[in-house]
Amino acid sequence: MLSTNNGINAWLRYAPLPAKTAALFPRYSHIVALSESEKSPIYTAGKELQEGLKKILLQDVDITNTLAGPGQLSATAILVGTFEVCPWDTTAGLQNGPDIPPLKEDGFWLGTQEDNNGTARVLIVGQNERGALYGAFEFLTLLAQNKPCPRSYATSPSAPIRWVNQWDNIDGTIERGYAGPSIFFKDGAVVDDLTRVAQYARLMASVRLNGIIVNNVNSHCNLLNATNLKGLGRIADVMRPWGVRIGVALYFDTPIELGGLSTSDPLDPDVVAFWNGISAQLYQQVPDMLGYLIKANSEGQPGPLTYGRTLADGANLFARALKPHGDGIVMYRAFVYNHHLDESNWKNDRANAAVEFFGDLDNVFEDNVIIQIKYGPIDFQVREPPSPLFAHLRRTPVIIEFQVCQEYLGQQSHLVYLPPLWKTILDFDLRIDGQPSRVRDIVSGERFHWNRSGYAAVVNVGNDTTWLGSHLAMSNLYAYGRYCWDPCSDAVSVVQDWTRLTFGSHPTVIDTVTQLSMESWPAYENYSGNLGIQTLCDIVKTCHYGPSPAAMDGNGWGQWTRADAHAIGMDRTTATGSGNAGQYPPEVAAVFENLETVPDDLLLWFHHVPYTHQLKSGKTVIQHFYDAHYEGAQRVQTFPVRWEALRGLVDEDRFQHTLFRLSYQASHALVWRDSICTFYHAKCGIRDERNRVGNHPWRVKAADMELEGYEVVPVIPFEAAFGGHAIVTQSNQASGTATWVVTFPAGVYNIAVNYYDHLGGQSHYELFLGSGPDDRTQRLVGSWAGDLGEHLLHDFSDQRDGHSATRVTFKGVKVEAGDVLTIVGTPDGSELAPLNYVSFLPEGIVD
Ligand code: GCU
Repeated sequence: MLSTNNGINAWLRYAPLPAKTAALFPRYSHIVALSESEKSPIYTAGKELQEGLKKILLQDVDITNTLAGPGQLSATAILVGTFEVCPWDTTAGLQNGPDIPPLKEDGFWLGTQEDNNGTARVLIVGQNERGALYGAFEFLTLLAQNKPCPRSYATSPSAPIRWVNQWDNIDGTIERGYAGPSIFFKDGAVVDDLTRVAQYARLMASVRLNGIIVNNVNSHCNLLNATNLKGLGRIADVMRPWGVRIGVALYFDTPIELGGLSTSDPLDPDVVAFWNGISAQLYQQVPDMLGYLIKANSEGQPGPLTYGRTLADGANLFARALKPHGDGIVMYRAFVYNHHLDESNWKNDRANAAVEFFGDLDNVFEDNVIIQIKYGPIDFQVREPPSPLFAHLRRTPVIIEFQVCQEYLGQQSHLVYLPPLWKTILDFDLRIDGQPSRVRDIVSGERFHWNRSGYAAVVNVGNDTTWLGSHLAMSNLYAYGRYCWDPCSDAVSVVQDWTRLTFGSHPTVIDTVTQLSMESWPAYENYSGNLGIQTLCDIVKTCHYGPSPAAMDGNGWGQWTRADAHAIGMDRTTATGSGNAGQYPPEVAAVFENLETVPDDLLLWFHHVPYTHQLKSGKTVIQHFYDAHYEGAQRVQTFPVRWEALRGLVDEDRFQHTLFRLSYQASHALVWRDSICTFYHAKCGIRDERNRVGNHPWRVKAADMELEGYEVVPVIPFEAAFGGHAIVTQSNQASGTATWVVTFPAGVYNIAVNYYDHLGGQSHYELFLGSGPDDRTQRLVGSWAGDLGEHLLHDFSDQRDGHSATRVTFKGVKVEAGDVLTIVGTPDGSELAPLNYVSFLPEGIVD
């Protein structure tokens, strides 16, 4: 039987309130949900209220969908509907209409009307049907947290566009998905059973997300074949009752590859006719379609430039095809850049690309084109300034693109709570024309008076019951909805609400989850990329996960650090560099241009400086690197320990699942710390003032042990191994043995083994202590398997490197004088039971 705590209901678990608390609530007489159409979000709201009351208060409450006559609305009814359909007169038993302030699209009012006995009738009034559903969720999520229902509360969204992007391929894989295969597609077609899609729409609606692009920006022409057009219609049908509309990402060369045309030139009449035809067919299936998301001339994708046309020609082609059918829009991605950029030219800079391509196009787009811009100029890095393109478009509205899936931020295998990062962008004041111009006010439409603009986030839920692969990662999806609605939200109270709804109200649980979450992004930044240097992960092997700082130079992608023996950082100044600082409005440009004023956390984003350059903190760049990596890694060592204190306060399934991931993160943070520190230490030769880098007194290299059936091999990149080498079995047929006479004093140790767990097999390992490998009395300390991929739901690499390097720890092991350590590694497939080193850690030591 599936556990009820498997994550499927995420923050909508509606756990019962304690009986004494529940008894303080009125016995609700009935729910009046004022729509008789099962497709209506109001109808859905009625059902949701019924389910919530049953679970939270154990009350069975009937629903009616009409108000037949006077007295229908008893003193303890819950009424949900739009303002228009609510009977604002006393004949239905309702007091005169409350004083509801003007609401924006999707807004709602939630309030109570008390009778003389103090019994409160609940009224939920939406500006539209979707707003009514949002109000019902508000009522329930307050109830579930035992927070009082407000007497009168009106709220409206900051922006009309609050959408999700899924990067699902029609074969069922998900690009940058870390939680199993697609819930939408399988084997080239839309899946038959859309239960999970409806559940996803419910989660989205509960945090007021109102749209989704269901397929990958790297799209496929077969998305639009006849079967899939119908399939898209089915997806739209199951999401519509939740107020979620769908759109699709298009492949630019579909006219050639599906339509059999000889060109996809956006000005060719046959191509125009093709897209007009497709649009008509799509609208037949999805009459309320959102529109088209376009990735063109980006990372090898075809686009209008392929045919000698402008980007605007491409965008306008789709915009005109949509126009006859409704309010559909083109979300044209600004992620257009040359991915074969020559690093030897210091003027070359990928960060300049968006403004170079789109800066002059402000006046040429059709009025239903919106430019979708990633939050920073490069690509979802751990720290970026806002994209300068936000300061260049006045007439053409924008969507800001975030990622809830943590592509460069630990891929849900590291806890990284994202709102503090998002806030660095949303709160940033670009000072356009010398006026206050916070990114959040540009995106909301307020700054330039747009009526359609807003938010998109790449979410990439998969079919794992946890949705994102990790229970804790779901706070990011929850928070994303909250921030779209109100970008001034407080990151702490958002995660506290999420925790109460997800794990319950125990103060220790709330405090612990809140603290770990709030510490997580700063910690991740500390151990993965400091001072604006970007996430120093491997971008060449494309998995964007573990450390590989060398990969961040010498590539055509333009994601560079320009690190050499003396200096590091991108010179983006206008004086001597790529001029990127000058793409910002003058007041901001001046801050970024100048070494005295640029904030430390963006120093290496904008400046190329010696490792000995002194920061505002007084430290040198290199010492900051060393210290930050040690601090960040040290911080996350505390995460599993602090989580363990919640044993018994969180159900066993989610407790263990989370403990596993936090322990893994703690071990991988050490891999990050050591790789980055070793790499830059080797590069610049400047020692760590605190003598930690390269100095590991509690470690023993596997390569220094006595080996049988094992051999020593170099690890590439060298910094992904302590000492640069690992041992692997001599074949994939026979086990190997590594032995070492323990030289540490007798005592109790945590024994940590660093090894590599990569694709291609699941090696097995056993660790013994005794007088030698042939000692029949030797003690088995522990055994483990290279099966991380099964637990973390994704494999990182097929090599021994910074992605696959990991650690297992056996705690509180008694080591006696004369003990010999023996590790027996049994290979499997292409994984040759690889080992790097063993640490004997006295309690409290991290090495
Ligand atoms: C990143 C990501 C790709 C994705 C691209 C995009 O480069 O790694 O997988 O396709 O962004 O946003 O289009």
